[in-house]
Amino acid sequence: MKNISLRPATIEDAQTILAWRNDPISRENSFSSDEISLEEHMRWMQKKLSDETCQMYLMSDGGEDVGQIRIDIIGQVGEISYLIAPKYRGKGYGTDIIEQYEKHADDRLSVLVGLVKSGNEASKRCFEKNSYIRLSGDGTDCYMKLINQ
Ligand SMILES: CC(C)(COP(=O)(O)OP(=O)(O)OC[C@H]1O[C@@H](n2cnc3c(N)ncnc32)[C@H](O)[C@@H]1OP(=O)(O)O)[C@@H](O)C(=O)NCCC(=O)NCCS
Repeated sequence: MKNISLRPATIEDAQTILAWRNDPISRENSFSSDEISLEEHMRWMQKKLSDETCQMYLMSDGGEDVGQIRIDIIGQVGEISYLIAPKYRGKGYGTDIIEQYEKHADDRLSVLVGLVKSGNEASKRCFEKNSYIRLSGDGTDCYMKLINQ
């Protein structure tokens, strides 16, 4: 049985997150597919962790880190970016991490959105299983859900 919890990310999580971000499937599903250098990643982490309009969490199961979720806040809209560690994919954690974030969702937010490349079936299913509405675009699907209503 799962024993899931979400905690704010810290700079100590940077190496773990970089390894997950540079996994080939993560790069393929990202809107910028180049491999990320350690230097670039550290600059990005510092900036995101000190940004009041960004929230970043790690999800663990039984003490083991399994994935990361980030929400970039623009007004009342929170844009979700997330990934699951390669060895833990296909076990429901992608679906779980979105559900977990919704329990911690910032009071400022009234809408959550996720932009997904149309070929990323696993991510599309994660949003659908969490009852997001889909708006289809050109090569990108936009998922959205009202929260804090
Ligand atoms: C996308 C991602 C977060 C999904 O996480 P996950 O833990 O593997 O997803 P889940 O186990 O919750 O699976 C969700 C659903 O997708 C399905 N699925 C998983 N992999 C799939 C694949 N390659 N093709 C089609 N469906 C797939 C599962 O069967 C499940 O559906 P079901 O419950 O109806 O059977 C994870 O694969 C990942 O980190 N990918 C790389 C980064 C990424 O794409 N991030 C999202 C950017 S928008």
